[in-house]
Amino acid sequence: MLVALTREVSPNIGQCELTYKQRETIDVDIARDQHNQYMECLADLGCRVHCLPAEPLLPDSVFVEDTCIVLDELAIITRPGAESRRAETSSVAEALEAYRDLAFIEAPGTIDGGDVLRIGKTLYVGLSSRSNRAGVEQLRNLLATYDYEVKGVPIRDCLHLKSAVTQVASSSLLINQTRVDPDDLKPMKLIEVDPSEPSGANALLVGDTVVYPLGFNRTRKRIEDAGIEVRVVDISELRKAEAGITCCSVLFEFLG
Ligand code: GLY
Repeated sequence: MLVALTREVSPNIGQCELTYKQRETIDVDIARDQHNQYMECLADLGCRVHCLPAEPLLPDSVFVEDTCIVLDELAIITRPGAESRRAETSSVAEALEAYRDLAFIEAPGTIDGGDVLRIGKTLYVGLSSRSNRAGVEQLRNLLATYDYEVKGVPIRDCLHLKSAVTQVASSSLLINQTRVDPDDLKPMKLIEVDPSEPSGANALLVGDTVVYPLGFNRTRKRIEDAGIEVRVVDISELRKAEAGITCCSVLFEFLG
């Protein structure tokens, strides 16, 4: 069984970090409603949803993906690149202690989980404004004994590696090649985003189903045309806080 770790939307999400987006008013009730539908979708797909209480003082804290990397062998608590987000990790570490042994990224290293794409035993880490080479080096050292390979990957014009590429099937990646070079990743079948939808590369694979944001119809069709089942969720209000569909959860196997 998969566990989906999530966190309720902060009442102060309107004060979130923004890197590529202009600030817009966020309706917290709509954001909560969309977040609830997202969690219902994960539960429908068989996940056991473990939802942490809201952190009113931490505007971005609904985006739990950035705070940790959970593997079968251990969980790594990250050190997010944005200083305003670093306090998000303590309650996540407390929750994850029930599931895994913990390790920590430490200063001067920074990593946002949104920059970490795991494909098999390889972890690709976007070299972004949030994740630095010291963080990549620490992650490599932490995981060497478990036989994982950790590779830094340059990205362009986006917040995180997973704003540029995500896995949508065992052998397929959904990618925006203007943001990341596929030669930096292992060879896989590529589904390209429609050029009119540059932000359409962020999809969440749950089992064999892709959870995908409303609003990228042309790219959604490309995913469906590749024979992949898609469940669409409206996260338009959360996207005003620069959310992707992957950011709002951390999925991992429940090992008992
Ligand atoms: N607002 C999401 C982030 O910048 O981390």
